[in-house]
Amino acid sequence: MKKMTSYELRDAYLEFFKSKNHSIIDSSSLIPENDPTVLFTTAGMHPLVPYLLGQKHPQGTRLCDVQKCVRTGDIDEVGDSTHCTFFEMLGNWSLGDYFKKESISWSYEFLTKVLEIPASKIAVTVFEGDEDAPRDEVSANIWAELGISRDAIYYLPKKHNWWGPAGQTGPCGGDTEIFIDTGKPKCSDNCSPACDCGKYVEIWNNVFMEYNKTAEGKFEPLKQKNVDTGMGLERTICMLNGVVSVYETDFFSDIIKLIERLSGKNYLQDEETTKAMRIIADHIRTATFILGDDKGITPSNVDQGYVLRRLIRRAVRFARVINMPQDGILQVSKAFVEKYKDIYNELGRNADKIISELEKEIERFSKTIENGLKEIEKVMKYMQNNMLNGKTAFRLYDTFGFPLEMTIEICKEKGFDVDIDGYHKAFSEHQLKSQKGAEQKFKGGLADNGEATTNLHTATHIMNACLKKVLNDNNIQQKGSNITAERLRFDFNFDRPLTEQEKQAVEDMVNSVIDKKIDIVCTEMTVEEAKQQGAIGVFDSKYSEKVKVYTIGDVSKEICGGPHAKNTGDLGKFKIVKEQSSSAGVRRIKATLTK
Ligand code: ALA
Repeated sequence: MKKMTSYELRDAYLEFFKSKNHSIIDSSSLIPENDPTVLFTTAGMHPLVPYLLGQKHPQGTRLCDVQKCVRTGDIDEVGDSTHCTFFEMLGNWSLGDYFKKESISWSYEFLTKVLEIPASKIAVTVFEGDEDAPRDEVSANIWAELGISRDAIYYLPKKHNWWGPAGQTGPCGGDTEIFIDTGKPKCSDNCSPACDCGKYVEIWNNVFMEYNKTAEGKFEPLKQKNVDTGMGLERTICMLNGVVSVYETDFFSDIIKLIERLSGKNYLQDEETTKAMRIIADHIRTATFILGDDKGITPSNVDQGYVLRRLIRRAVRFARVINMPQDGILQVSKAFVEKYKDIYNELGRNADKIISELEKEIERFSKTIENGLKEIEKVMKYMQNNMLNGKTAFRLYDTFGFPLEMTIEICKEKGFDVDIDGYHKAFSEHQLKSQKGAEQKFKGGLADNGEATTNLHTATHIMNACLKKVLNDNNIQQKGSNITAERLRFDFNFDRPLTEQEKQAVEDMVNSVIDKKIDIVCTEMTVEEAKQQGAIGVFDSKYSEKVKVYTIGDVSKEICGGPHAKNTGDLGKFKIVKEQSSSAGVRRIKATLTK
């Protein structure tokens, strides 16, 4: 295998697919656009859903990129050798262009020729078939013809060899997954890549997206057959360099050294220190990327802001464990900015903001700790049997943001125990409740291109333009957008609440645009042309070449992926239902359309 740095692998991957006529597209934001069902971009395909469903992509039918992703489902697992909350996914796509033959052959060529992985070390899985889709003999035969031994081709059920949809509905299909056989002995006669004994490590997934899962749970054939692939950059680097942990690769090794210097501790001195250093490194990398994203997320108690807050506070807590001074966190973040800024320019652009937001959150957390300590002192007076009950421990966590570990530590110092089982019970009851909330939220479905969301999307453009006019402020910009079938939510920079008159004026202006029954025109052009025509939108990232520009008469011109209504007359009546603060200097409007 070829030893490579992360920089070399990114380049090699993009170069390879460029040579197969793929356009290289930029990494999208970590915050999904107009997708209410997920907080973060979790896979390379995520920003491409509309194109997988059949919309034309301005850069053609063969695409590849390196996408920054965040998955926080297993945040509490971080600290072991493999789980990270941030990762990069190398991906290549066919939007109704090539299919299994080319996709598998190119993966094989890249792995064996460019990465120099011997074919004998590769194991693959294919879909075994069920009532929704047939057994994938086509992929199995392609692998065999290329030189993968039949013994290394495993047929597995949907649980393992089906990918998507990313939300409840949308594009999905059977996949073929590619593993490195680490050479460890099989753990049993049934050992296969499905097993997590560590013999097989997955590095790449090629999904053959031929179906659209409907809200009723049916799999309908898509208009076009797509390929969606994802290769884990970090995992692959570990495999190529023969190390088990990503902390030993160029992603982290210098950062761990920095944390060693800052804390005066040795990474390998004991398990607690190793774990603490990994958590600080992982969480601060993710926090740096979330803060560095142009979408302007800051720590808060909701959605992405809440995840960000948890990451920062958990890192601070583990910094205390290893006696690392709190401003060490800032130095770690700065080191990540340096490391990644040439690949993700937004980190360089937003470097000051990253540091100042981190500083503020660390300060707020110190206050929280102070308040939590006072509260603990209070409840201790009423404690029975030298035991802090679970509900109180959970309340300290939930209301005061006081982590359980700290509660235990402090109680121990004072000679008290904490009912940890009771805490977990209270925690799961709470989780069950919020999970139900999350499921409600999920109902919108990923890439819900239904009429209601499409119309609200168009209304968002009109409102964006009207806000500038009514408030007489051309600096107003979109700071966030989230659309469900029920309402639009739009964040913009403005430093005071809107008056009743202003809200009414915005409503009236939007409704008058609707009444004029204006056609919405979509044109493709280069970013340069779009700029010259005065279009607004995100210019710097996403597409390096052609973009779609949606024009609504002389009201609005915005770079946007769509989809949009055909005519403003389709929208119905526009109403602002809420106007409130979202964060410092940012207002949030919720609005609806009724027929
Ligand atoms: N979307 C596929 C994945 O995330 C490639 O594994």
